[in-house]
Amino acid sequence: MPQRIVILTGAGISAESGVDTFRDKGGIWSRYDYRQVATPEGFVADPALVHDFYNQRRSALAGIAPNPAHYALARLEAEHSGPVTLVTQNIDELHERAGSKNLIHMHGELAKALCSRCGSRHEWRGALSTEVPCPACAEAGCLRPDVVWFGEMPYHMERIYEALGDCDLFLAVGTSGSVYPAAQFVQEASRAGAHTVELNLEPSETFSDFDEAIHGPASRVVPDYVEQLLKGR
Ligand code: NAD
Ligand code: APR
Repeated sequence: MPQRIVILTGAGISAESGVDTFRDKGGIWSRYDYRQVATPEGFVADPALVHDFYNQRRSALAGIAPNPAHYALARLEAEHSGPVTLVTQNIDELHERAGSKNLIHMHGELAKALCSRCGSRHEWRGALSTEVPCPACAEAGCLRPDVVWFGEMPYHMERIYEALGDCDLFLAVGTSGSVYPAAQFVQEASRAGAHTVELNLEPSETFSDFDEAIHGPASRVVPDYVEQLLKGR
């Protein structure tokens, strides 16, 4: 039974909770140009468009719920004897609501606002706009979604690489392996001697980097895999 487990999740784990993925058929990036709504340059060019893009997704948070895959990962953390570190690329809060505690949001969180002037962060469930003043510095026009955009550095990378360098088992769930550095985590884990498993609807761009691949909907394959793991498979 592996002792130290690191899990990476992507948009696919939330798909069955009704959250659109990015690169599947009809995904977010087929309806929006990521350069306009998920880059610092896009925010400078048209902050209202970017705020609208994230306001729509933030308001949808109230209508979604964790699915069996989220709950299975929370169960693994609760019942496994060793450390389980969950790194998510997702900006929704479904892992928290399913009960996961040792959780790292490497791309930030939709329900948070960041002030680009004073650096303060705030829980935020309503709409953001250039008119809304920062609760800390009272300036308007400096609040942005606390989300990591293309071209920006992801959050908590030191903590992530520390966990990857010391793990025995690495699981990637619901990610296409098309965005770096997350797409390279499997290689980091392999270098540390970990057994690596991809659990995804279909083969990802990096599926050949994994020791094992289990393909199918996360709400089925993840609970099954966790059950077997906890039974000491
Ligand atoms: P990247 O290289 O990490 O990812 C860019 C990816 O976007 C590429 O793999 C490419 O396949 C994909 N892409 C290219 N054209 C696209 C299109 N038209 N529509 C959608 N996707 C397209 O990007 P980067 O600029 O090097 O990112 C740097 C950092 O930003 C990364 O480390 C990543 O963690 C972070 N990031 C955050 C978000 C976000 O929305 N939170 C999105 C991407 C990257
Ligand atoms: N069960 C399991 N996997 C699924 C399911 C499902 N029900 N539905 C879709 N998938 C898989 C798809 O096959 C795809 O490989 O989830 C993956 C989703 O890939 P993307 O849409 O590219 O999402 P993700 O990998 O999280 O994107 C990484 O790119 O745009 C940025 O910041 C954004 O964090 C995101 C990053």
